[in-house]
Amino acid sequence: TKNPGEIVVARAGSPLVIGVGHGETLVASDASALLGHTKQAIYLNDGEVATITKNSVEIKTLNAEPVSAKVEEIETNLAAIQKNGYEHFLLKEIMEQPESLKETLRGRIDLRDGLVRLGGPGLKEKELRKIKHLVIVGCGTAYNAGLLAAYYIEQFTPEVTVEVVIASEYRYRQAYIPKDSVALIVSQSGETADTLACLREIKKQGIKTIGIVNAIGSTIAREVDGGTYVHVGPEISVASTKAFTSQAIAMVMFGLTIAQAKGVRNNILRPYIKEIAALPGEIRKVLDACNEPMKQMVEQYIKYEHAIYLGRDTAYPVAMEAALKLKEISYIDANAYAFGELKHGPLALVDDRFFEFVMLPEGDLYDKAVSNVQEVLARGGHVIAVTNKEEFDLPVENVVKVETSLTIFAPVLLNLVAQLFAYYMALCKGYNVDQPRNLAKSVTVE
Ligand code: AGP
Repeated sequence: TKNPGEIVVARAGSPLVIGVGHGETLVASDASALLGHTKQAIYLNDGEVATITKNSVEIKTLNAEPVSAKVEEIETNLAAIQKNGYEHFLLKEIMEQPESLKETLRGRIDLRDGLVRLGGPGLKEKELRKIKHLVIVGCGTAYNAGLLAAYYIEQFTPEVTVEVVIASEYRYRQAYIPKDSVALIVSQSGETADTLACLREIKKQGIKTIGIVNAIGSTIAREVDGGTYVHVGPEISVASTKAFTSQAIAMVMFGLTIAQAKGVRNNILRPYIKEIAALPGEIRKVLDACNEPMKQMVEQYIKYEHAIYLGRDTAYPVAMEAALKLKEISYIDANAYAFGELKHGPLALVDDRFFEFVMLPEGDLYDKAVSNVQEVLARGGHVIAVTNKEEFDLPVENVVKVETSLTIFAPVLLNLVAQLFAYYMALCKGYNVDQPRNLAKSVTVE
């Protein structure tokens, strides 16, 4: 009543951004809410208080020290947060993965010299050479992306151990991180409370932190020591799809950067770099080929309440991500297991209550995975197999053939089929595909 036309805001944990408009000032929890009104944003930090009127913003700390307001340009545009003709953001974001991955790779892959060039982490050659241990921190899909990247990084980076941790667990563990470590902090929104808390704990140990983030200017992006934006554009649907693909590949590129600095021979790294460069085109082919078949297939499985997802090696984190996608938007109780774990328990589950979604990329472990599938079939499993194997003759209920020349990153392509399956299942069930019950896009609370 004493100060009409004035609002006082403060930030303590959850994100808060101030939009500086023309004759108006706006407050929001995310910069994308400001689009269409203004592209000028001030990101408040924890413990800052802003007094705003329609023409002014005055920021102070909690003990009244003035803070100079840093106005930043919001890089996203309004068009980027439209559905552009798609029925849902989720289908749009699945379908735009060739383009979004291209943005992740832009200027970072040198095919001629077979090199990766990542500037963002800001680590010097000698710092990269010294790295002996990577800790990859994330939640949900970001965690799954880290698991996938870890398998690849171990394949080409000598004497570097890679540990992938769930942020909400890690923040309370008394984990020791060796001094010659780097922590990769993975977050699409850059605002996930548990991941942010982990970042702050890890920094207290003096460990270098590198962000693998999508949201420009987000809290995690501003608090890490260095980082690589994945540049997939706003991901609006609660279920993360394009961010998963780009986060995983961005982390693989960070691993390649370490390997390059450690002098790993180019002929070992070049196949990875060649396949990464080819991925956007291969993703387009798979999406075009599998969209309709997956739309048709879900009808057969709509009555199931339980599903088992299976994979081995690099296809195991992909099975985990695929199961998360199905459960979070179709509410089917979907869980992923490593193929080799079946005998240690999950095989007891196989009966008519379940269907099995199995990832079968061609490779050294293909035959082992096939024998696991045969164990499931022998117990009457209802199996959907996704594979890039030319000749496939297992007596499964459905097989989705993925045509690709890729071998190393074939599991990334198999995941696209699972994304489409989850989307059409949720659609078929009539659920809110983009905003599933109980979930939020950015989990800014514990
Ligand atoms: C994934 O589809 C979910 N929306 C959720 O698991 C998400 O990945 C997790 O909350 C982490 O979010 P972030 O990447 O923004 O930190």
